[in-house]
Amino acid sequence: DKGNHRHFMEKEIHEQPEAISHALSHYVDFLAHTVRPIAEEIDFAKVPSLAISACGTAYLAGLVGKYWFERYARLPVEIDVASEFRYREIPLNPASAALFISQSGETADTLASLRYCKENGLKIGAVVNTKESTIARESDAVFPILAGPEIGVASTKAFTCQLAVLAALAVGAGRARGTISEAEEKTLVRHLAEMPRIMASVLNTIQQSIEQLSRDLSKCKDVLYLGRGTSYPLAMEGALKLKEISYIHAEGYAAGELKHGPIALIDENMPVIVIAPHDRFFEKTVSNMQEVAARGGRIIFITDEKGAAASKLETMVTIVLPNVDEIIAPMIYSLPIQLLAYHTAVFMGTDVDQPRNLAKSVTVE
Ligand code: F6R
Repeated sequence: DKGNHRHFMEKEIHEQPEAISHALSHYVDFLAHTVRPIAEEIDFAKVPSLAISACGTAYLAGLVGKYWFERYARLPVEIDVASEFRYREIPLNPASAALFISQSGETADTLASLRYCKENGLKIGAVVNTKESTIARESDAVFPILAGPEIGVASTKAFTCQLAVLAALAVGAGRARGTISEAEEKTLVRHLAEMPRIMASVLNTIQQSIEQLSRDLSKCKDVLYLGRGTSYPLAMEGALKLKEISYIHAEGYAAGELKHGPIALIDENMPVIVIAPHDRFFEKTVSNMQEVAARGGRIIFITDEKGAAASKLETMVTIVLPNVDEIIAPMIYSLPIQLLAYHTAVFMGTDVDQPRNLAKSVTVE
């Protein structure tokens, strides 16, 4: 049932504040501001490293997770798309743990990567939406994302719930390893706890500007997304979402890679979507934006209040989000990129919930 929404995708985008709140309550104690003890099958305090593998959007969630595990838990992360991971003959440390992220829990390549790690003696964790899935069944520890059923083929609430769970796991691992203090844990958990409310208010306020922008975007043939830090996987997720449902060609790049190739594509016909909260990377990303502006590129700037005030560059549109802590930025910035893809596809008249050539669950390699 779509309720009063035109598509399941729209409904699922709007369900995110509630879904995230539900997911988080499983992992964090909102009163004590601590992460609940995580599955004892995987000893995050002792593992020397972590391997992560997944496909598509779930892989991009894993890529954000890598930044978090490395930053908060000082845990080195080896990550690759499952179709490469399983065949790369990666020398794996049997003392390590591996995480497999999958909404369906049935993705063939992800399952094959899981089995490869299991054969190599690693402890296996599954970050899944479907607890009764094959990937969940074959794992030592299951970390449910509790997003509820996701019907739209393009993943939205599963992505942000995967992120929320990975954030909680990284903070929990950081505590277990002593790489973050009790006070830091409390602060981070406070930020996580604020997220559903912030998401709800963002969903209410950006709708109109996104719809206007989507009308322009639906006339474009190519779109470039740029980001740094955790905004880099988000740039790739934005591009993936747009191509999946609107069939517009899009690429997500690390902002710093712009000058190593993609800058050659820049002209007035290719909008460049820059995802840049006012974080420790902001100045660097703005200088990449300058390179775009100097070549006549049209910039769609997704930033926060501080970022909007700090940048003097002329943009086609600036979407201003509230100032938020770095740990919740990826979830908050998912909202404009999902809505942008959604409304662009609606303008194009594509089959949003059932895009051509795509299946919700990919059980063949
Ligand atoms: C993108 C999308 C796909 C899936 C991928 C993995 O919107 O839905 O890229 O993320 O096929 O699927 P799961 O998570 O079921 O393993």
